[in-house]
Amino acid sequence: MQKSTKKKADYTLTLSDNKTGKSFELPVLGGTLGPSVIDIRRLYAETGMFTYDPGFTSTGSAESAITYIDGENGVLLHRGYAIEHLAEHSNFLEVCYLLLYGELPNSEENEQFTHDVTYHSMLNEQVTYFLRGFRRDAPPMAIMIGVVGALSAFYHDNIDINDPRQRDITEHRLLAKMPTIAAMAYKYSIGQPFIYPRNDLSYAENFLHMMFAVPAEEYVISPVLVRAIDRLFILHADHEQNASTSTVRLAGSSGANPFACIAAGIASLWGPAHGGANEAVVRMLQQIGNVDQIPEFISRAKDKDDPFRLMGFGHRVYKNYDPRAIVMRKSAHEVLEELESLDEPLFKLALELERIALEDSYFIERKLFPNVDFYSGIILRAMGVPTDLFTVLFAVARTVGWLAQWDEMIADPGQKIGRPRQLYTGPAERDFVPMENR
Ligand code: SDX
Repeated sequence: MQKSTKKKADYTLTLSDNKTGKSFELPVLGGTLGPSVIDIRRLYAETGMFTYDPGFTSTGSAESAITYIDGENGVLLHRGYAIEHLAEHSNFLEVCYLLLYGELPNSEENEQFTHDVTYHSMLNEQVTYFLRGFRRDAPPMAIMIGVVGALSAFYHDNIDINDPRQRDITEHRLLAKMPTIAAMAYKYSIGQPFIYPRNDLSYAENFLHMMFAVPAEEYVISPVLVRAIDRLFILHADHEQNASTSTVRLAGSSGANPFACIAAGIASLWGPAHGGANEAVVRMLQQIGNVDQIPEFISRAKDKDDPFRLMGFGHRVYKNYDPRAIVMRKSAHEVLEELESLDEPLFKLALELERIALEDSYFIERKLFPNVDFYSGIILRAMGVPTDLFTVLFAVARTVGWLAQWDEMIADPGQKIGRPRQLYTGPAERDFVPMENR
């Protein structure tokens, strides 16, 4: 595992309290790239005060060597490699190896890792009975949360999180089983039999086969769809300390088992402001209907009294193009061209919506650009993936990022349980009031 290269900057920040006249020296820590951080770990002990940053807009919650994002310039690096190059030249399992172990694998490492993940893709058969307890119309994300959390009841044999070898086995298990569970959730929802994984297929081939094959006939795997789904997985693999990754880290900081932590990450990803946006984008495009309706929805998106947001637009970090959205738009074009559905109305509508929004001062001033979710739904729809499964695929892909970040935290000897504080604005202490006096 590549060790991080945190350098201590050679200066401190002086905090002066003009109420008490006291001043405090706060060390500034520098990383390899990006903003330095003000080390406030001693702040409460020295000042008796907390910092206040509810949305963590200015808070660095961890030291990490996995992913770097430059929001101003639309840069995304995984262990130093640009997402555009990985999407173009690599494949998902290779990127998984890179995220987990810090380096691109050589051919021997790649072969061993692929074998290890492939041979964990089956599930304990009892899990199928657990999954069958859901209603057929259960939201697939609810099934993912339930089944992944339940894996801690089935795979308790290698769950000592302080043993790197056991963490490795559990990481391989989760990487391997997420596509199997996702495909099972889909098959269950349409009343078709589960299709078991096959060890002769690649990760992406296996997923498509489990999703779309039926026992009644041979399923022909399209190389174009394999490339598209593999690239989509790469683009969703990790993204620094986003909401779901922070959830996994916080859950893991208590020592909870990795299956429970990943289930917590899936739960956080489900929200429409986060991973649920890809599903919301397609539903929004369907609601807009045609290009003539775009101006009305743009003005609704700008109206503070209207809760409507332009889904797939904006980002907490990217104040320029999300580099993943650019690759995704190119991939959407390739997939639709290959499937001879370039005239797919939603794709043309999305292109026109992007063009109009990016000419509008409201979006320009707020630096609202398309994000990773804007085009992904169009690709998935073209591939025949149902809308309510879009976020499930995001979770399948992001599992490696969650695991890499979780492992980095657990392996850190300085790791502590996460326990934020607050600004209390409730009532001061008061006497109890008996029922007869209320
Ligand atoms: C993901 O963090 C990650 O890395 C996440 C992710 C990952 O890979 O893990 O990249 C994946 O979650 C991508 C984001 C998917 N979500 C959406 O597409 C939902 C729509 N986007 C918005 O909800 C919003 O942009 C967020 C949640 C993504 C970011 O919100 P912020 O950073 O809290 O920004 P904000 O709400 O403070 O908005 C700033 C301004 C506000 O206007 P003013 O009050 O300044 O006038 O921009 C406006 C907002 O009203 N705004 C939007 C908008 N997004 C922000 N207005 C209309 N439509 C939008 N989509």
